[in-house]
Amino acid sequence: MNSHINLKNIMPEQLKHTDLDRVDVHCSPPDFEPQRQYYFMAKCRQYVKEESERVGHILTASVITFGCQMNARDSEKLSGILEAVGYELTECEEADFVIYNTCTVRDNANQRVYGRLGHLNSLKKRNPHMRIALCGCMTQEPSVIEKLRRSYRFVDLIFGTHNIFKFAELLCDMFEAEGMTVDIWEDTTQIVEDLPVERKYPFRSGINIMFGCNNFCSYCIVPYVRGRERSREPGEILREIRELVSDGVVEVMLLGQNVNSYGKNLKNPMSFAQLLKEVEKIEGLKRIRFMTSHPKDLSDELIQVMKESEKICRHLHLPLQSGSTRILKAMNRKYTKEQYLELVEKIRREIPDMAITTDIIVGFPGETPEDVEETIDVVRRVRYDNAFTFIYSRRTGTPAAAMGNQVPEDVVKEGFDRLLKVVQDTARERVAELSGQIHRALAEEVNGQDPAYLTGRLSNNTIVHFKGDKSLIGKILPVYLKECHGFYYIGEISQENTEKAGV
Ligand code: SAH
Ligand code: SF4
Ligand code: F3S
Repeated sequence: MNSHINLKNIMPEQLKHTDLDRVDVHCSPPDFEPQRQYYFMAKCRQYVKEESERVGHILTASVITFGCQMNARDSEKLSGILEAVGYELTECEEADFVIYNTCTVRDNANQRVYGRLGHLNSLKKRNPHMRIALCGCMTQEPSVIEKLRRSYRFVDLIFGTHNIFKFAELLCDMFEAEGMTVDIWEDTTQIVEDLPVERKYPFRSGINIMFGCNNFCSYCIVPYVRGRERSREPGEILREIRELVSDGVVEVMLLGQNVNSYGKNLKNPMSFAQLLKEVEKIEGLKRIRFMTSHPKDLSDELIQVMKESEKICRHLHLPLQSGSTRILKAMNRKYTKEQYLELVEKIRREIPDMAITTDIIVGFPGETPEDVEETIDVVRRVRYDNAFTFIYSRRTGTPAAAMGNQVPEDVVKEGFDRLLKVVQDTARERVAELSGQIHRALAEEVNGQDPAYLTGRLSNNTIVHFKGDKSLIGKILPVYLKECHGFYYIGEISQENTEKAGV
């Protein structure tokens, strides 16, 4: 057919609108991205079609995500490609293709994956057409790959975080190969734009603004499995957000391991605060969130931009990790207890309604009950709106794993429980302070327990359930916060549109 499209002649922005069934896959694949991946999508479409005909139904695929927002966004990219090659997406694991996008930040994340893989194997025995893939942070660890090769031979495809952009090509390899396909890269400097994405929510989206991490906190495996910090070009980020807004998105979450160091390594360096100012200008966009802020890099410029913004949400996630200066030093966090408290005070002085949440680790090597008291002291002073507390997990290859003074389990547990109680009490008090006020909430979904209710989120990230029809999903509505139930509210849509409603 002379209607065959040669992808080598198509501009990257137009690829998403190209009819993949008309792409010429008999010529050699383009050797540049993202055209190359669209070539493999077109090729893979044929494999999926042939197999669908063979098995007598459209092949189904399920993407299961573990870990953080970054992984959730990657999963949307995987889903985009699966859909483009002709799979029907499902949430059920009884599918023809199941991919686990894994996390390895703590050991229990890994154990969960191994446990569930056993279950997948039993499903595969019943459905011989089933294929299983594994990607994400866990697969960047050589010991994991060894274990998978040894004891999980039923996995068909394994790739990592650095080559996720070539998922379409890897899918083709999987269809063509006998047995396990494994492709793991040690690092990359590449950022491939313009690949398809399938969003979980029509009205809200995560946006990667940077990848990787250079901080090397001594307990953390992320820099080893996600590689060095790389920022996306601001033009690409803004273009993506504009496209999302024209597709119905009202809220974006800018994602990076440390968004405050955004832009430092760009050809034309730009600060995170400057990027936010540009995002703010996008018409039709209503709310801006971001995650995560490292306290060491949170600038006065950023505080000012947040203060003046009408779109940036009143929520800052500011991981503390520990309140003991001695432990913070051993963690390589590069701030002291006092510096952290001063920063919080400055933020609260400038933006009094800012909700602050945090992450805390208990049981870092050498931590004593007195150190935990220091952490509890910070929690009492800051009065976090919410805090995620984690028991320290020893990650092979990190400096902390080699430290001699690991804390016994019972001591960790005691400190953890003591901290958790204070965290929960202060968070409850903080959340309750909004009682009787009217705030705007973005209606996100039908309530899981009572379908007459919707679940919404305030600018400060508090959850509110209120009566409403599902046609309101994706809308920002004033909600009267009637009853506080610990960490969430039961509310009512308000007819008043008060000044207090905020972003
Ligand atoms: N980049 C983010 C955090 C990413 S990991 C930041 O710096 O804030 C998310 C959280 O997991 C961390 O904030 C930390 O509290 C926790 N975490 C990381 N490594 C851990 C480990 N080895 N054991 C327990 N918790 C850990
Ligand atoms: Fe891990 Fe620290 Fe990087 Fe966060 S900033 S991802 S905790 S190394
Ligand atoms: Fe986990 Fe990787 Fe995120 S280790 S927390 S999924 S960056």
